[in-house]
Amino acid sequence: MRDKVDLWRGAISLVILGLALLCSVPAARAQELAATPPMGWNSWNHYGCKVTDAIVRAQARAMATNGMKAAGYEYVNIDDCWQGKRDAKGFIHPNDRFPNMKALGDYIHSLGLKFGIYSSPGPKTCAGYAGSYQHEKQDAETYASWGVDYLKYDWCSARQVYKPSEMPAVYKKMHEALVATGRPIVYSLCQYGMDRVWQWGPSVGANLWRTTDDIQDNYTRMAFIGFGQEGLAKFASPGHWNDPDMLEVGNGHMNADEYRTHMSLWCILAAPLISGNDLSTMSPETLAVLTNPEVVAVDQDPAGTEGYRVSEEGPLQVWVKPLAGGSTAVGLFNAGESTMPVTVHFKDIGLNGTVSVRDLWERKDLGNFKGSYTAQVPRHGVVLIRANSDN
Ligand code: GLA
Repeated sequence: MRDKVDLWRGAISLVILGLALLCSVPAARAQELAATPPMGWNSWNHYGCKVTDAIVRAQARAMATNGMKAAGYEYVNIDDCWQGKRDAKGFIHPNDRFPNMKALGDYIHSLGLKFGIYSSPGPKTCAGYAGSYQHEKQDAETYASWGVDYLKYDWCSARQVYKPSEMPAVYKKMHEALVATGRPIVYSLCQYGMDRVWQWGPSVGANLWRTTDDIQDNYTRMAFIGFGQEGLAKFASPGHWNDPDMLEVGNGHMNADEYRTHMSLWCILAAPLISGNDLSTMSPETLAVLTNPEVVAVDQDPAGTEGYRVSEEGPLQVWVKPLAGGSTAVGLFNAGESTMPVTVHFKDIGLNGTVSVRDLWERKDLGNFKGSYTAQVPRHGVVLIRANSDN
């Protein structure tokens, strides 16, 4: 009798354990896929619709060999304009700029990198190529067969076939199709921050979701987007990231201070770091902005806490990001037109006593400070520090 009861108890425990495991699968899966914000490259910001197989291979090669991969960049993502026609059975084929997607995926994987692609839940992508409307399952299977590891799914013409209220269900449909392939595929939502996507993104399987309209390679637009992210920090966590759009670093229309501001802000925001320049011809200065290990470490901090603004006085802003292990990254930003002093008061960021300060761009210890730290910050520039309180 006793044996029988034990057997039943054992069986019931197993069922409960199984159910618990099943329920935790979506969350565990999301965190596994994007435990820290995804890092990589995407074709759109530099190449737009001129992207080709040869360009993507050259970018992958550059990433693998120039220090980008070593710094943590791994996804090589084709954006819009790769699509050709559907065949009689409805399967999508690439256009003639992409002779063989499976071979391209294999090449990217052979470099130790991952392969990303782009589609829309609508009938057409934003650039007018074939979208996944009514072919979601089939497209997910096709992507998996090509070895795709990342999908950016861009609303575009979906607005013509769906009501705004259907958006979460539409996004969930592709998530389920991706999961059904059995291949882990990072899921990137692009609907420009409509309907407070950060509130429901995780529930439809998103690993990241765009919070804004498109970035451009100029300081005004970049700063408008970056500094406009205040208030979203609580929606980010490992596996689930706010995405203020891809990087413009190195595309040529901002100066070095402005690109450092762009990179610093994105790292404080725990934003995905998806470079958008030509990696194969970039200058050493651009490479240094993209790969400074202490700056990238702020973005990739394992705690996965998004930073927030602690003060704003005219053009001067101070942003902080709490880091694992108790230190704090602090960005002292000057959006003004001339060099100005920017101060962080330690009590505003919860630090007491003596605080040691390290400049992350310069990779230099600046010493110990009490009460506050002030930096001279150039026009449109930043001083990014890590602060550690001794108690
Ligand atoms: C939208 C997106 C961009 C890019 C283009 C491609 O504008 O927001 O990031 O993907 O479509 O057409």
